This record gives sequence, C-alpha cells and structure tokens, in this order.
Amino acid sequence: VAQDKKLRIGFSQATTIEPWRAQFNKDIIAEAAKHPEVELIITDGEDKTEKQVADVENLIRQEVKALLISPKESAGLTGVVTQAIDAKIPVFVLDRNVETDKYVQFVGGDNKLIGRAAGEYAVELLGGAGKAKGNVVEIWGGMGTQPAHDRHDGFHEFTDKEPGIKNLLDQQSGDWKQDQAYNIMATALRNNEKIDLVYGHNDPMAYGAYLAAKDAGREKDIKFIGIDALPGEGVTWVNNGELSATFLYATPGAEGLRQAIKFLNGEKVEKNVVLPTLKVTKENASKIMKDNGL
Ligand code: FRU
Repeated sequence: VAQDKKLRIGFSQATTIEPWRAQFNKDIIAEAAKHPEVELIITDGEDKTEKQVADVENLIRQEVKALLISPKESAGLTGVVTQAIDAKIPVFVLDRNVETDKYVQFVGGDNKLIGRAAGEYAVELLGGAGKAKGNVVEIWGGMGTQPAHDRHDGFHEFTDKEPGIKNLLDQQSGDWKQDQAYNIMATALRNNEKIDLVYGHNDPMAYGAYLAAKDAGREKDIKFIGIDALPGEGVTWVNNGELSATFLYATPGAEGLRQAIKFLNGEKVEKNVVLPTLKVTKENASKIMKDNGL
C-alpha cells in the first residue's frame, strides 16, 4: 500500500502559542510539502513539560522513522528523548537542547553569538566601549532553557566590561511571554526612576516591556532590544521605532526536516548545524519587511 511507503517523521513542538513557534511550524510544514514520501506528524506540547513528554511517548509508539523535537525545557524532556534514542529512533534536537548528546543532530541558532551581538549593540547605544553609561533591565526567557542562558552570557561578555553600566534586575524571567515581561517592566519602572535600556531575550518580551514603558509615559527615554526578528513582529516594531534592534533567530523548521530526510536516505549529517543571524535596525528593517511582502 502507498501508505506503507511513507516516511513517517514525528515533530514534537513545545508550544504553538508563541508567534515564533507558529512560524516554525509553518516552515516545517512547507518543507514537508516538498517531500511527497514524507508523512509529518506534528504534536503541540501546549507549553507544558508533561504534555510534551506524553507527545513524544506517543510518537515513539507510532514508530516514527525519525523524531524531531524542540523541547520546552532541557531537564524535563531529557528522559523521553533518551527513551526514543534507546528505541533506536534517530533524534534531531531543534533550537533548545536536552541534557544528552546521544542525538543524531542539533539544529539551531548560536545564542551565545546573538547575545554578544546584542551586548555589543547595547554598549554602543549607551555611549560606546569604555564610555557606556546606563541602567539596564534584562528580561530572561525560560530559566530551564539553554537559549536564555546563552543569550544572557553573551550579552554580559560586553556589558560587564563597562563600569558605567548597572544591571537593575537579577534573573527575572518572563518565560518568553509578552504579558509577563509587561508586568516585570511595570514593576521595574515603579522601582527605578531611571531606566536606559531593556534587553528582552525575545521580541515579544522586549515589546511587552516597551508597552509598559509607554503606559508609564517613559518609552522615549528607553532603548529596547529583542531577539527573533519575525518580519511581522520584531522587524515591524524596529521599523516603527518601538524597538532599537532585534537579532534574527531563524526557525530550524525547514533545515531540521531536510537534515532528517537526508539522514534517513543514508547520507552523513553534521552533529551541529548552526543557523545564521542578522542584526536588524532601522537601516534594514523596511527592506526585510518588503522582502517578506509586508
Ligand atoms: C518561542 C521562543 C522564541 C525564542 C525561542 C528560544 O517559544 O521563545 O521567541 O527565540 O523560543 O528557544
């Protein structure tokens, strides 16, 4: 039967409520459409570790030929990823890691590099290397994820060298969500007369902080930096002058699936595939929007 010829590939997505993940799913679905032999099963972890664990257990039972996973968090998904590996299913980890390296491949952006680029730009916005001055609010992504830690570490490689830069918050996580970042920023605004720059670990949080500042009438005094650069979100906000910059964090949807298919066809694949980034400011934002039909 034709059905039996299908390469059944499972993709366990962490959540679909965040716009970047919706784009990620679109990208993987578009890639799957180019491979008629592939049957792609996508599950939605609904932003809950337990749900995503159950999803992967289900995909293992369905005997997928390969498992792609973008985990909600590292620790909680490591067990079930190990189960898949033990069941001899080739695993491709996308965007956020797990605490094992026995998978076939990791595909994602270089969050350390992106954090560094954001930190370097923050220093520039605050007066330049050696002269930078200002109070910084950093809003973390999910604490249990490597991207948040790498985005933090890279940023601080630059800002910690500046004696004039002061960090106002200590490890405050908005869990990647705009509304949580709004609340963190609203409190920071109440507690601090002077805030010069906000670094959100993603664009929804940078934008949530911007909205809080706007509601407090202080958005003009503050620079906002985010990460993701979806054309209809971060890039648009930069173009509107709401964010000063965002850094592209390309979704690994298309590349992840291409790599898995390559592997299933018996070709060699790299252990790590790093997706490129790009700094987006007022200078290139409108061109990126146009290129994307906006
Ligand atoms: C979406 C998201 C993105 C971020 C990525 C990090 O869930 O929060 O905004 O860049 O995950 O893993």
